[in-house]
Amino acid sequence: MVGLGVMGRNLLLNMGDHGFSVAGFDLDSTKVESLRQEAGNRKIFATTALKEFILALKSPRAVLMLVPAGAPVDAVIRDVHPHLSEGDLLIDGGNSFFKDTNLREKTLAEKKIHFFGMGVSGGESGARYGPSLMPGGDKTAYNRIHPILEAIAAKVNGEPCVAYLGPTSAGHYVKIIHNGIEYGLTQLLAETYDLMHRGLDLTNPELHDIYHDWSQGELNSYLVEITANIFKQVDSETGKHMIDLILDTAKQKGTGMWTAESAMELHVPTNTIDTAVTWRNLSSLKDERQAASELLKVSSAPFSGDKKAFVNQLKNALYAAMIITFTQGMTLLRTASKTYGYDLNLEVVSRIWRGGCIIRAGLLEKMRDAYRKQSDLSNLLTDPVLSKEVLARQADLRAIIRTSVDLGIPTAAFMASLAYFDGYRSARLPSNLTQAQRDYFGAHTYERTDAKGVFHTRWDAPEVVPPPALAGKERQTL
Ligand code: 6PG
Repeated sequence: MVGLGVMGRNLLLNMGDHGFSVAGFDLDSTKVESLRQEAGNRKIFATTALKEFILALKSPRAVLMLVPAGAPVDAVIRDVHPHLSEGDLLIDGGNSFFKDTNLREKTLAEKKIHFFGMGVSGGESGARYGPSLMPGGDKTAYNRIHPILEAIAAKVNGEPCVAYLGPTSAGHYVKIIHNGIEYGLTQLLAETYDLMHRGLDLTNPELHDIYHDWSQGELNSYLVEITANIFKQVDSETGKHMIDLILDTAKQKGTGMWTAESAMELHVPTNTIDTAVTWRNLSSLKDERQAASELLKVSSAPFSGDKKAFVNQLKNALYAAMIITFTQGMTLLRTASKTYGYDLNLEVVSRIWRGGCIIRAGLLEKMRDAYRKQSDLSNLLTDPVLSKEVLARQADLRAIIRTSVDLGIPTAAFMASLAYFDGYRSARLPSNLTQAQRDYFGAHTYERTDAKGVFHTRWDAPEVVPPPALAGKERQTL
């Protein structure tokens, strides 16, 4: 292991727990020392000397690095690769950009060194006691390391939350989309909090109880569970609830944005995830928002309905929106898989996300079933089970959005989810008008509903329109 920060150290300890003999390297002697202390009688060797570290490894070597994405990954590759030999394997376990992974794989392949991009999800405790692992790269190299990965990964019903995902950057791509879904889900949860706190005036203990209750039913998931816990936390210094002391600007490291960017590049609609990224950006405008809250005052009547009934609607709306968010992520994976030749098995992706990772949720079992029944399912909303679940809750999704509009509380991710649902089930969208406009101002042409071919109209010239049967041939311009 190169990089003995919290994640690297915890993964090594996890390997040590499973009886593997491992070595760790970091230039920071305090990190090395603290690992030595914690290692106890596990077979863990730690050093600040790169040569010593390399010598400790059996050939063909497998080196896993857990360092921040970007320049630090290249710095490690630069320092470590001269010590590696043909057939060795270098694994990047960080949240790297998938196109960087492709490039690194190509460069190292020229030196006959295998390079793996592996998504690692689950944070500190996941790394220590069982993460979800998303490896991609050379299959034969994977076969060498899979016993270690399977041993340390989280298990659900005895199945490890790791599997070989595909060649090149498949693993890092899947991790990016995992994080994009994470952005969507956290934004939806933030909106439920806003509605219940600002809209319904519920207290933190009441919020704890509600989220806890939700986490026991169909919404059972890691994110709902930790949300419940957050509302219990009291600051030891002030005695106040932690949640009320945290500044309302959400930071980001880039994976959500990469999901949205990739979706745009591949022309896949992922508007809940896009909105979640936008909302982090809006949240960062704290000073402007503060000023605008005085300038742009709008009076709205306080909530006057039945709070209990509303909370129940919110629960249903959240479940429907969660399905829709996962749907967007999975459709993106499906398209990326075809475009980039990852050959992803979405049943496997659903399986390894059931445990260990941040987006783990009971819902993933149903998604897995959906892909098991139909491996090339184009959209989860067409699965008989999931579609029924969304249809049964869509009225509640509309209801909570209506209330949010009346209260003046933004529910951008819920709105995006409903719009995705309504857009996807629209046999006819107003895009015919968009096409007409594009053709009008830019001669971009359009297709017709009544004839094959590509057409252009001279919109501002008075024109006698020929019958459609003739129109195809006569006005075909491309
Ligand atoms: C995980 C998390 C992890 C990290 C995110 C946070 O799967 O364990 O997703 O990768 O917490 O990168 O991302 P932001 O800082 O962009 O919210």
